[in-house]
Amino acid sequence: EAWRPDGEDERRGAMGPVKVRVPAKVNLHLGVGPLRRDGYHELNTVYHAISIYDELTARRGDTLTLTMEGEGTGELALDDSNLVMRAAHALAGYAGVLPHARLHLRKQIPLAGGLAGGSADAAATLVACDALWGTGLTRDELAGIAADLGSDVPFLIHGGTALGTGRGEAVSPVLARPTSWYWVVAIADGGLSTPAAYRELDRLREAGTAGPPLGATDALLAALRQRDPRVLAATLGNDLQDAALAMRPALAETLKAGEAAGALAGLVSGSGPTCVFLAENGARAERIAAELTAAEVCREVRVAHGPVAGARIV
Ligand code: C5P
Repeated sequence: EAWRPDGEDERRGAMGPVKVRVPAKVNLHLGVGPLRRDGYHELNTVYHAISIYDELTARRGDTLTLTMEGEGTGELALDDSNLVMRAAHALAGYAGVLPHARLHLRKQIPLAGGLAGGSADAAATLVACDALWGTGLTRDELAGIAADLGSDVPFLIHGGTALGTGRGEAVSPVLARPTSWYWVVAIADGGLSTPAAYRELDRLREAGTAGPPLGATDALLAALRQRDPRVLAATLGNDLQDAALAMRPALAETLKAGEAAGALAGLVSGSGPTCVFLAENGARAERIAAELTAAEVCREVRVAHGPVAGARIV
């Protein structure tokens, strides 16, 4: 129960503000299976939490309100359609408490970027409001509410590196040696719609122009057990990449530029348009980031490492 700090009275909740930090995710392997009858695709994925963070602060209030700063401010609706508001309502409904809180979101994860920013904010809200309201849910109860909010939300409560199955909501941790991997993250101008990327993949598959599906995660999981980034680089893959490239052809230039700058491998993150590049080490990552910035193939370049913890009170 690591998300609840010592001394927190879980029956009465926190009097002061509760601040939660939550990471972005990349998919080291995103194997997309057939479209299910419920509209989701069966996934075989390996999630990996990286050091780009959003921060959610929850304070006591007489109603439920949300304010924000940073990435997406002015674009993201702050009403009940927001995943933060939906998460707060879902937790309050489950626990039988009034959904009263003043929530403030500081965003560094881009909107609709393929980094699960919205899911991260939902995960952060569950952890923060659970502490603020003293609802004291178990990790499994939180994960259950998380799964109803979005396929990636349970992973963002866990963090680290984890296997995702089902529609992505069934998460189990990957046992790997304690190694850090270094990433260069190329953030594009504007987002891509996740449902549209899945639809495009279905269309490419129907037309017979999609690449062969990635399938099992065995090679990637074996690579994670070694410490060699070159071995990991050879096993990274994303079935949604062709769809993202079809919707945003300019991403091919971004991927080429990262590899030309010395990345061991580059791939589209999730449904894109963010591209991530694996570097040999932290110093190499900084050099690749500088070259990629100079190449002017994206809006912004950041350096990150992983795996990092999921949504945690700080
Ligand atoms: O679960 P979440 O709300 O994040 O999913 C957003 C959309 O992405 C879904 O409505 C669906 O169109 C697509 N999706 C999918 N298969 C998955 C996960 C998401 O087709 N396993």
